[in-house]
Amino acid sequence: DWTMSAYRQRAVDKIRAQVGKGRVICALSGGVDSSVAAILIHEAIGDQLTCVFVDHGLMRMNEADEVVSMFRDHYNIPLVHVDAADKFIGALEGEADPETKRKTIGRLFIEVFEEEAKKLGGAQFLAQGTLYPDVIESVSFSGGPSVTIKSHHNVGGLPARMNMQLVEPLRELFKDEVRALGRELGLPDRFVGRHPFPGPGLAIRLPGGVTRDKLDILRRADAIYLDEIRKAGLYDKIWQAFAVLLPVQTVGVMGDGRTYEFVCALRAVTSVDGMTADFFPYDMNFLGRAATRIINEVRGINRVVYDVTSKPPGTIEWE
Ligand code: XMP
Repeated sequence: DWTMSAYRQRAVDKIRAQVGKGRVICALSGGVDSSVAAILIHEAIGDQLTCVFVDHGLMRMNEADEVVSMFRDHYNIPLVHVDAADKFIGALEGEADPETKRKTIGRLFIEVFEEEAKKLGGAQFLAQGTLYPDVIESVSFSGGPSVTIKSHHNVGGLPARMNMQLVEPLRELFKDEVRALGRELGLPDRFVGRHPFPGPGLAIRLPGGVTRDKLDILRRADAIYLDEIRKAGLYDKIWQAFAVLLPVQTVGVMGDGRTYEFVCALRAVTSVDGMTADFFPYDMNFLGRAATRIINEVRGINRVVYDVTSKPPGTIEWE
């Protein structure tokens, strides 16, 4: 029978058969897929699993802390939290090219993860939250010329380099099934229902070089925007919504003073699979409310615009 609880049991049996008494390391990204994979594997083999969360300092407000406390406190799963923000932000500081940003983040990620794996004394197995669509996508481009629009950062380069066998318990599942499995495993709805978030994080929502100050401004604007979306009951109607901090300053007026601060762009799209997307048709009152709050509450932003581009011709992210 095909229920989630039956799938869960079969997956647990399979993991035990594959791993035996071996050791497994899981690279947690903070997203739903790697979290569900880790919790399932922990159910199967307990403390033979260690999770490593490479925190690049490019996550949304509070998200890194939420993941760490969920694993440590709620599930009691051993988790190494590597605070590598200085390393990542330092390397991204003068870098404005979107693809170079992605490559830098991917390279540093592998470097930091390898170092931690070595400290843990190594392992025979590497766990990944690969989904069925990832499996198809990696073969579907063969046979024709393909254009890389964006090189997605993932841990695909790890297994070959580290000589580890892969444990991929979600390989047969689609995204909505992973969410159902996550609920079956007791993950909170708010976590399971989270919008997709790109591996390179806020670095690609900040055209131009990344600095701590800019990250801080963007993170605060983004949090207010999402708060308004939740309050309006719109979160689940939207595929992805986020703020982008533009490298443009404009003149404004506040009290009797002139301001000269950054522009924040708001993005929200509906989509089925992220391949095509339509901009979300907000009510103007909603946009006005979000803009007013962002400008009043975030120092460094004095103008807010809404992106009405669909995909194609635009992409969902700005970089
Ligand atoms: P685009 O911007 O290409 O995004 O329309 C489609 C989906 O992919 C996400 N995205 C990424 N995810 N690493 C990721 O893990 C990346 O480098 C990356 N770039 C875009 C984007 O958030 C959207 O869900």
